[in-house]
Amino acid sequence: MFCIKVNQGKFESRKVNYMYNKDCELDLNRIEVPESEVERQYYYIAKCREYVKSIEEELGHKPTFCVQTFGCQMNARDSEKLVGILEQIGYEEIEDEHADFVIYNTCTVRENANNKVYGRLGYLSNYKKKHPHMKIALCGCMMQEPNVVEKIRKSYRFVNLVFGTHNIYKFAELLHRSFESDSMIVDIWKDTDKIVEDLPIKRKFSFKSGVNIMFGCNNFCSYCIVPYVRGRERSRKPEDIIREIKGLVADGVCEGMLLGQNVNSYGKNLEHPMTFAELLREINKIEGLKRIRFMTSHPKDLSDELIYAMRDCEKVCKHMHLPLQSGSSRILKIMNRHYDKEQYLEIVRKLKKEIPDIAITTDIIVGFPGETTEDFMETMDVVKQVEYDSAFTFIYSKRTGTPAAAMENQVPEEEVKPHFDMLLKEVSAISSKKAMQLEGKTMPVLVEEMNTQDATLVTGRLDNNAVVHFPGTKEMIGNIYNVTLEECKGFYYLGKVKEDE
Ligand code: 5AD
Ligand code: SF4
Repeated sequence: MFCIKVNQGKFESRKVNYMYNKDCELDLNRIEVPESEVERQYYYIAKCREYVKSIEEELGHKPTFCVQTFGCQMNARDSEKLVGILEQIGYEEIEDEHADFVIYNTCTVRENANNKVYGRLGYLSNYKKKHPHMKIALCGCMMQEPNVVEKIRKSYRFVNLVFGTHNIYKFAELLHRSFESDSMIVDIWKDTDKIVEDLPIKRKFSFKSGVNIMFGCNNFCSYCIVPYVRGRERSRKPEDIIREIKGLVADGVCEGMLLGQNVNSYGKNLEHPMTFAELLREINKIEGLKRIRFMTSHPKDLSDELIYAMRDCEKVCKHMHLPLQSGSSRILKIMNRHYDKEQYLEIVRKLKKEIPDIAITTDIIVGFPGETTEDFMETMDVVKQVEYDSAFTFIYSKRTGTPAAAMENQVPEEEVKPHFDMLLKEVSAISSKKAMQLEGKTMPVLVEEMNTQDATLVTGRLDNNAVVHFPGTKEMIGNIYNVTLEECKGFYYLGKVKEDE
């Protein structure tokens, strides 16, 4: 972190925790706005703190905030960045939306995600009428859609601040602008090639953390809005990723989840290109780190090199999330997925051969334009062959601006629903069967926390993310134990540490 000091009217920064450094003299009015992006944001954090202090004096208590996250793990990680800044400027986090500052970090991958936000905004509008000092901000993927922003400008005028996915690192600066203005501040960028490191962040969990390794997506699957709202692929430098993970480990993190829309294409655009498999091997060497997960892998880019790295790296969880989307080669082609049914099954065969106890999970879309019962049965066939440990199933949602939305052969909901139900039934039956198969086995469990219901138990997770409760003490948190899974309770297990541990 940076110390901002006044030195004969000039700006100086140095890496100390200035937030709590009482010796730090600060006269922001006498400092020029720093040029370096990260220092600039720390400058605005300090400026915002002055506003928050005066709000606190007015209210007679620390003002509260609530960040509501919709969507994926990327958004969850972004929200941690917002929380980090809000806490540094003097807000206090609360769980519900009756806060002095509410932020919705939105998702737009499916229509119902958008509808949820509009519904909640309706509620907030009434609440704000009774609490006019309240601040409301909207950010995330949904804000990258011009029609959404237009609607907000027109029909949700009580919103104070709107920003997108590319300029989230400017949150402090935008918030400062919003403190200085009575009208709605809107700042949306089309794209960026910038990655700003070293801004404040507040983790939700002490023991595990998401780690962005890349941003954006270049794949343009024909149904998907993500490439339009998250921009082109940008990889973080390996040294920045490793430095961040080492810092997290020093701060008590034992599990890192490497995040990217398509981690398998990591490193292609770096000055010194590096593959994801190479990155995994480097991260595996980090002392003190116990587990590495990653998400998401595109089948078209899944190399043998990655399979071998997963097999060889003892810290990498033996879990692969491998979105199928459809089992029909015909539909996969129209989806622009660049693999067919056989190629997908071949990857699964390889994974199972090299890593026999691997857990495989997936995403599946039902009702893509033109999908027939025959196509759907191909999906069912893959589901039966692969035997997924779990699967996220989605009804196709028309996203304006994507090629699939313009296709004329949209499938009516009444035709999609029976297929969707059939798939859900099959997927659940297989995942219960797979979960039961582990009963009686002894498997590594990373202890995450004390059980919230029973003080004699600890709670941890298997490689495949399933929860296990077993007798233990708080000293065990952050360590891996071989646990015999004595009873499968559907989505979780009751177990016992293996005798000779
Ligand atoms: N409709 C339904 N599901 C979608 N997904 C992405 N776009 C759509 C859409 N338009 C699903 C895909 C992806 C997951 C994150 O969301 O299965 O893997
Ligand atoms: Fe969307 Fe395809 Fe990119 Fe995944 S890989 S984010 S489904 S475009």
